[in-house]
Amino acid sequence: MSTKPPCRLCGHALEEFVSFGQQPTANAFLEPSDFDSESFCRLAVGICGACAMVQLIDEVPNEQMFHKEYPFRTSGSAGARAHFEQTAQWLLDTKLTDDRSFVIEIGANDGAMLGFVQKAGVRHLGIEPCGDLADICESKGIQVLNAYFDESTARRVAEKHGLADVIFSANTVSHISYLDSVFRGAEALLKPDGLLIFEDPYLVDIVAKTSFDLIYDEHLYFFTAGSVRDAVARYGLTLVDVQRISLHGGEVRYIVAREGAHQPTAALSGLLEAERAARVTERGTLERFAARVSERKTALVGLLQDLAAQGKRVAGYGATAKSTTVLNYCGIGPELVSFICDNTPGKQGRFTPGSHIPVRSPEAFANPYPDYALLFAWNHQEEVMANEKAFADAGGKWILYVPEVTIA
Ligand code: TYD
Repeated sequence: MSTKPPCRLCGHALEEFVSFGQQPTANAFLEPSDFDSESFCRLAVGICGACAMVQLIDEVPNEQMFHKEYPFRTSGSAGARAHFEQTAQWLLDTKLTDDRSFVIEIGANDGAMLGFVQKAGVRHLGIEPCGDLADICESKGIQVLNAYFDESTARRVAEKHGLADVIFSANTVSHISYLDSVFRGAEALLKPDGLLIFEDPYLVDIVAKTSFDLIYDEHLYFFTAGSVRDAVARYGLTLVDVQRISLHGGEVRYIVAREGAHQPTAALSGLLEAERAARVTERGTLERFAARVSERKTALVGLLQDLAAQGKRVAGYGATAKSTTVLNYCGIGPELVSFICDNTPGKQGRFTPGSHIPVRSPEAFANPYPDYALLFAWNHQEEVMANEKAFADAGGKWILYVPEVTIA
């Protein structure tokens, strides 16, 4: 008898709807000496039959993904830098308005958001488990605690620093397996009218665009307004507002308060209604998504094989975590994509996880230009294409695979 794994939130059985086989750690860019000791974990997604929370079936331990040398830098794109400057300004203008205001960020990364709060002289604390990132924050004058966020960290912070007006988090809450401890921690650390504000990739957008590469080990949960509303309600919290965000191919910012402290907005009821209309958590919708994923693989591999047969040179652009899913699921290696360029120093000179494609600096892209560039950083398409206009001017072509495989 096969037993289905339990939902991390309510313990009910998970129903698997898509699988990408064994995958390496998505952001573990390698030295050649690491090739033989890579670790792999099955990547598959299921939905809870009771609470409809969509989540990975298996998980990689935190310490294997988020450690001292975790390479991802929020400030690696102008789009993200602008988004987090606007976010900081919005928090400063609307939520952190008196001289006792205090904001905490879970997963401060390189201080892309808190740097602006620090400059405005507002009390803050970044909570960041990755040592190099915590050091970057510190070098910018940002107050930071090098720790994972959970209930015990929250209680420690509350005792030492007092309660927060805002706990903010971007692209981090969906990475944390023990959400129960996160929400209990938020409950313990917020002022009576304080807000937990977090933004993460949106399941509705992933299904609509078949952006299957947003599925990788770090993304444990794929939220909707409905699933977040139900999850936080178990901890005396209420989802009161939502905002749509275009970063990372479509995200939602969830605004959560203590029960009764703030009134739910029309934007929230509108999004809940749209989710019902999209039937995004219905079995049929998710099965059709899985079928499109498989078709996308066939189309992309077919195109790359055709180009290789014609002797065309294809490079990748953006050694994203997303690219790890695409490359390993599709079985694409250096014979189809000769190198990938990326502006992140910690990825350059290394090799992609599992597929072992060399990662080079953006300068290598033009030296000489490839015939085609496969855009793994498709969520930064406008920015990348503007920066690399000379590539298209020289006759180079972009390959996109979201929302379809196309040549631009
Ligand atoms: P992102 O799309 O946030 O990726 P993921 O979360 O999937 O890792 O990161 C974009 C990656 O692309 C990052 O490694 C930086 C790189 N990049 C460039 O090399 N050049 C650019 O112009 C941009 C916008 C990003």
